[in-house]
Amino acid sequence: MQLFLILKFIHKTAVLLTICSFSLRGIWMITGSPLLETRLARTAPHFIDTILLVSAVAAAALLGQYPFVDGWLTAKVLGLLSYIVLGAIALTYGRTRGVRFGAFFGAILSFAYVVYVAFTKNPMIL
Ligand code: HEM
Repeated sequence: MQLFLILKFIHKTAVLLTICSFSLRGIWMITGSPLLETRLARTAPHFIDTILLVSAVAAAALLGQYPFVDGWLTAKVLGLLSYIVLGAIALTYGRTRGVRFGAFFGAILSFAYVVYVAFTKNPMIL
């Protein structure tokens, strides 16, 4: 139980760092800031994402609940995938400002959905 609570704390801290760093990079993208291209802005997110995922998988294993077995974890993984794809379009691959903008808000919505599912354990919004 102690280990689970520690993992959950690490997971939640990584969640907070992830959304702060993504929002900041989104603002830099919108304002056209060169800070988006700095080494730290490019590498730190990978480090945070790894912590988020490793703690998530370890916590799930301790609970004995697994994606594609338990609905809420499946929904979280799909929400995470949607966040990753939209985030990559927003910050790297989007060709126009409009596409990047739309993808950025889509990524924020996907992230919010995953947080909602994390707290309710219910994949349905309504
Ligand atoms: C964008 C990605 C993610 C976000 C924003 C997120 C968010 C959260 C939050 C806020 C909690 C705490 C809920 C609470 O205190 O009651 C949590 C717990 C948890 N998350 Fe995530 N999560 C993400 C990805 C994942 C993934 C991919 C997995 C599994 C493979 C996962 C597995 C878990 C588990 C097992 C818990 C503990 C649930 C419990 O307390 O019963 N998370 N997550």
